[in-house]
Amino acid sequence: MDFTIHKVSPAIGVEIRGLDVSRAIDPSIARDLRHAWQHDGNGLMLFRGQNLDKDQQRAFCSLFGTIGVRAGALPTKRPRAFEGPDYNSDSMLVSNIRQDGKPIGVLPDGELWFHHDMCYSATPNRASFLYSIEVPKTGGDTMFCNMYAAYDNLPKRLKDAIEGRRVLQAFDEVQDRRLDLSAVPVDDVKHAWQPMVIRHPETGRRALYVSRLMSHVIEGMSQAESEKILDELYDYTEAAEVKYTHKWAPGDLLMWDNLCSIHARTDFPKTERRLMRRFTISGEAVTPAWDSKSAA
Ligand SMILES: [Fe+2]
Repeated sequence: MDFTIHKVSPAIGVEIRGLDVSRAIDPSIARDLRHAWQHDGNGLMLFRGQNLDKDQQRAFCSLFGTIGVRAGALPTKRPRAFEGPDYNSDSMLVSNIRQDGKPIGVLPDGELWFHHDMCYSATPNRASFLYSIEVPKTGGDTMFCNMYAAYDNLPKRLKDAIEGRRVLQAFDEVQDRRLDLSAVPVDDVKHAWQPMVIRHPETGRRALYVSRLMSHVIEGMSQAESEKILDELYDYTEAAEVKYTHKWAPGDLLMWDNLCSIHARTDFPKTERRLMRRFTISGEAVTPAWDSKSAA
């Protein structure tokens, strides 16, 4: 099976051409894909023109790890987002399509700020596989940013300020603003203290592990000091030179590594249908960059 690898942007992402991922994939091909994903793509890989049912998408995803649980399965004392009729599946629909007035999927409408999927869990899912079935004519793009480059681009002053620090990652079903943790007890929402810089288990590189939507406060700092540093970091995490914006077409499959990338969605018209199917693979506790057990 011959395939070719093409950069989708200078910052992040490769496209694989010449591969029908609905078919059985030889283990040696899967190893080559994994290498391209991790090393050439910096954790983002694209396949266009695919035709996948749920079982075929699950089978492809399984080549890269164990299928992960849905975030909706995590305990929370807060009202859950409506999970749709597909709730008991190991896949998840992301959609604004409504039946009887209710969306058939999660995260139905509008903008979604930059985040790492499930960084608010002690063991975040490692990767996400999003397949497009119906897309709006305009908007609803997914933007990806390279968190290796974001870290490398930080001035020494900011690297020093966050070295050895943890940040509170939290999420409560709002998409385009940060939680007001003075109004909601943190123990009521899905949350985890995570290292601000992680050591990637496959590349050995450092990656910044903060995002505008889910990072709330830096441990050991005043709120004001924490806000100032997080705001400065977001300029680097969302900079044009580390970003790729994907304009979806039906049949696109994008897979991303949540340890070294963040992603966000642009707004789109409520009147247009958007239907995506997502699988994930599970992950382990993230490794701090400064963990003595990891490489220097
Ligand atoms: Fe996400």
